[in-house]
Amino acid sequence: MLQRTVEGIVVRSEGKKLELRVITDKIVNIFVTDKEEKRRDTIAIEKKKYDIPDFNVEESKDKVLVLTKDLKVEIDKKTFFITFKDKDGDVINEDYGEGVKLGDSEVRCYKKLREDHFYGFGEKAGYLDKKGEKFEMWNTDEFMTHNQTTKLLYESYPFFIGMNKKHTYGIFLDNSFRSFFNMGEESEEYYYFGAYGGQINYYFIYGNDIKEVVENYTYLTGRIELPPLWALGNQQSRYSYTPQEKVLEVAKTFREKDIPCDVIYLDIDYMEGYRVFTWNKDTFKNYKEMLKNLKSMGFKVVTIVDPGVKRDYEYFVYREGIENDYFVKDKYGITYVGKVWPGEACFPDFLQDKVRKWWGEKIANFVRDGIDGIWNDMNEPAVFETPTKTMPEDNIHILDGEKISHREAHNVYANYMALATKEGLLKERTNERPFILTRAAFAGIQRYAAMWTGDNRSLYEHLLMMMPMLMNVGLSGQPFAGADVGGFEGDCSEELFIRWIEAAVFTPFLRVHSAIGTKDQEPWSFGKRAEDIARKFTKIRYELLPYIYDLFYEASKKGYPVMRPLVFEYQEDENTHKIYDEFMLGQNLLIAPVYLPSKDRREVYLPSGIWYDYFTGERYEGGNYYLVEAPIDTIPVFVKEGAIIVKQKPLSYVEEDRIEEKVVEIYRGNRGKYVHYEDDGKTLDYKKGVYNLFEIEFEYFDGEIDIKFDKVHFRYEDGAKKYRFVLKNFDEVKKVKINGEEVEEYEIVVK
Ligand code: GLC
Repeated sequence: MLQRTVEGIVVRSEGKKLELRVITDKIVNIFVTDKEEKRRDTIAIEKKKYDIPDFNVEESKDKVLVLTKDLKVEIDKKTFFITFKDKDGDVINEDYGEGVKLGDSEVRCYKKLREDHFYGFGEKAGYLDKKGEKFEMWNTDEFMTHNQTTKLLYESYPFFIGMNKKHTYGIFLDNSFRSFFNMGEESEEYYYFGAYGGQINYYFIYGNDIKEVVENYTYLTGRIELPPLWALGNQQSRYSYTPQEKVLEVAKTFREKDIPCDVIYLDIDYMEGYRVFTWNKDTFKNYKEMLKNLKSMGFKVVTIVDPGVKRDYEYFVYREGIENDYFVKDKYGITYVGKVWPGEACFPDFLQDKVRKWWGEKIANFVRDGIDGIWNDMNEPAVFETPTKTMPEDNIHILDGEKISHREAHNVYANYMALATKEGLLKERTNERPFILTRAAFAGIQRYAAMWTGDNRSLYEHLLMMMPMLMNVGLSGQPFAGADVGGFEGDCSEELFIRWIEAAVFTPFLRVHSAIGTKDQEPWSFGKRAEDIARKFTKIRYELLPYIYDLFYEASKKGYPVMRPLVFEYQEDENTHKIYDEFMLGQNLLIAPVYLPSKDRREVYLPSGIWYDYFTGERYEGGNYYLVEAPIDTIPVFVKEGAIIVKQKPLSYVEEDRIEEKVVEIYRGNRGKYVHYEDDGKTLDYKKGVYNLFEIEFEYFDGEIDIKFDKVHFRYEDGAKKYRFVLKNFDEVKKVKINGEEVEEYEIVVK
């Protein structure tokens, strides 16, 4: 039986129902059930009204065909077997075997395996391409050394991108239960995905290439809002800087040693017995003064806030939680108690509106003394001394007035906590951009928080793993991601620290963090050589901040990752498809870190085109592998021909000084085009149009460079006044024109 709806179709057969919704010409939602139930969207899906395009439905004896501008979706009316075809009728993806299999404890969908590569899956160990692998999604506090056999980490993104020579698509399984994926590990014929509970509710996301798939995926799950600029600066953390004098000393040393740094983190020891929203009376006696001092040195402060609330009747947060019934319950309806840092603790049920509101108020009050951002940790939620490392699966949460089990709530718990935190920060500072860092997450987290990859170790293997992990997180819609620089657990060596910071300054989120009891990990803790190199590279990052900020702007508009695999930019070049140890920062910079000890050179693949060494200007022809020299104080970084890169002077922290002048580097090529974005870097005024957008273009022909500098949008008046152009690697320049006029000074004054 076929029924047409406003959004698509409903087909019923043998007690089963299939709902197909057309979201865009390239995004189709499939929901299959054998129950009388509605489709359940998780928090991953951004709530908005879709602009549903025209589509046609054709019916034959056995089949129904849904036709959009770009897709032909063919459904067997009896078996619900689905085939997705492109507009020419070429199969992109089709079910395999029995297709969808429904059960009470498990739902599953089989697909014919025709992909050469799979990417995405968020925060997973191992390498970039996930073909031939299997894993599950269940947010887990994994303290054992992460390696390729580690299947569960802190975050869950049930999303992947499938690609072969002809087609690229993504599938997002919008199901928050523990999910599983077998991407050709079991068979060369098929792959499957599913979950231990919940629904077969997935989105088929088509695109011309990976770029478009990611853009379409983030159309569904949302895009990052612009972060405060300081959150793109260098950040220093340790478990824990204590007492307050130590915090001040670390901050001061950054300034004395002239190593740029914007943020200092306070880990769990700032609290009184690990009670959230309190300060330790002995070690942080004058915390208000400390916060003031840090502010006067230009430091932002981010404090850790874990979900576990200490079970202590004398403690206001616990009392309020109990009195108002805010905590997660066990299966008998009794408040659940589990052990975390403060000992026995209860866990706010962030899925409830009233709980989020309460928590938001706590956050708002807490940050008033001068805290700038919040760090959410242990939010899987982690629980000590349990076999599962978390709370029982039959614990009870309440979502939209309905009781749901922890099985369903577990993977999304962190997103709701981050949402509560974000709303709290916005309540206190209504026109300031909130900053939240999270360890656990579900798809869609980019709308609330930045992520870091949890407890890595001071191992070269983890410096390497940072690359594919962050790249797959980026492809999964979260552009704001980083790893603990130098490694969390274990003693970092001088050489490892150097190699790590050299690479990390080119990653979206830059923070050094290390565990209690490990060797000091401040840049100066390793001697002069490391200190000098750390200074040099941190400054390189600060010079690049306008370029990096532009990438966040692009991420906010299109969902593109800031740090991306080479295949994202060069999909047509097969050599890039599996590269996991090089990455791109935007489309112009290619970074090839040294991630092994005692190496002063490494192999680098450069995709087709001409490339220039970012530091020496040496010219390389792409489409080749090179052995590139990289003594300890350098890292191979390359710029693409025709690149335009906007830079500024390196400050000690982003708000240290106004940026009067920006430098526009133009790299030799026949032409280039770039969009530069600028605003105040901290308020929400940009949402009201208070920002500047410049289109910069150049053409180079016969020794003449023609530069166009166009103010596309100009509403922010405190931006840089002067843009100075620097021509890189052009050997002969006879004439330079800016906006049609021949110039001697390569600069333009913006009015
Ligand atoms: C967890 C976090 C780590 C933090 C520690 C103490 O292990 O992952 O970053 O330092 O808890 O709060």
